[in-house]
Amino acid sequence: QQRKVKVQEKAGFINVAHRGASGYAPENTLAAFDKAVKMRADYFELDVQRTKDGHLVLMHDNTVDRTTNGSGEVKDLTLKEIRQLDAGSWFSSQYAGEKVPTLEEVLDRYRYQPINILIELKKPELYPGIEKQVALMLLKKGVSFRPGKIIVQSFNHDSLRTYHRLQPWVQTGVLVSLTEYRKGVSDEKLREWKEFSDYVNPNYKLVDDRLVNRVHQNRMKILPYTIRSKATADEVRATGVDGFITDYPELGY
Ligand code: G3P
Ligand code: CA
Repeated sequence: QQRKVKVQEKAGFINVAHRGASGYAPENTLAAFDKAVKMRADYFELDVQRTKDGHLVLMHDNTVDRTTNGSGEVKDLTLKEIRQLDAGSWFSSQYAGEKVPTLEEVLDRYRYQPINILIELKKPELYPGIEKQVALMLLKKGVSFRPGKIIVQSFNHDSLRTYHRLQPWVQTGVLVSLTEYRKGVSDEKLREWKEFSDYVNPNYKLVDDRLVNRVHQNRMKILPYTIRSKATADEVRATGVDGFITDYPELGY
């Protein structure tokens, strides 16, 4: 079985800074990732998409409208156009001039820093072949074989399966949305996911002790998203999850 060759994640609660420490700095920017390092998160999460001219950049939405001073779809803009945008001012004037980072820039900056990276393939159906492109980038930067350094996740499970086939040694996670799984996660789904995934990362509202146990019985781990309050953090932690994805890394200590 392919996934047995994978390196295992460290023991202890896994504290993931969502889009960086995005409660404190503009999401998916170096400022937010630096803040996650400073706050000693175990991972920061980021969203990867692709520019018109084929560069991997970090942006949550399909358009740059909400988090920059520009407008338009990521896939219709060149890297040069995207790099001219201000990705910090919308959050606070303190961050004016923050750039939209490339995946390459982030891997260069953090590969030897004491933090790991959770990479979300965001809407990979818009970017044919992005799985291979990301896989090659991880290989080029020497991070794909580093124990626990990288997890790749996606709501698009076909894309994640493709990724797993390309680099079966890299850890993967299925994202599980509230809208799609409101009625629950079947045993059949869990059995399907474990063929290509190490983590099940659901909306926290789907999580209870029973789901956690079933994920563990299938020898996967569970990292719910997105925790934004102490009350939710305590509640979710009590179910026995392996960690969580939060905008406020102090909630995961
Ligand atoms: O890491 C989980 C989370 O990032 C998934 O939702 O919309 O924030 O990308 P979203
Ligand atoms: Ca994300």
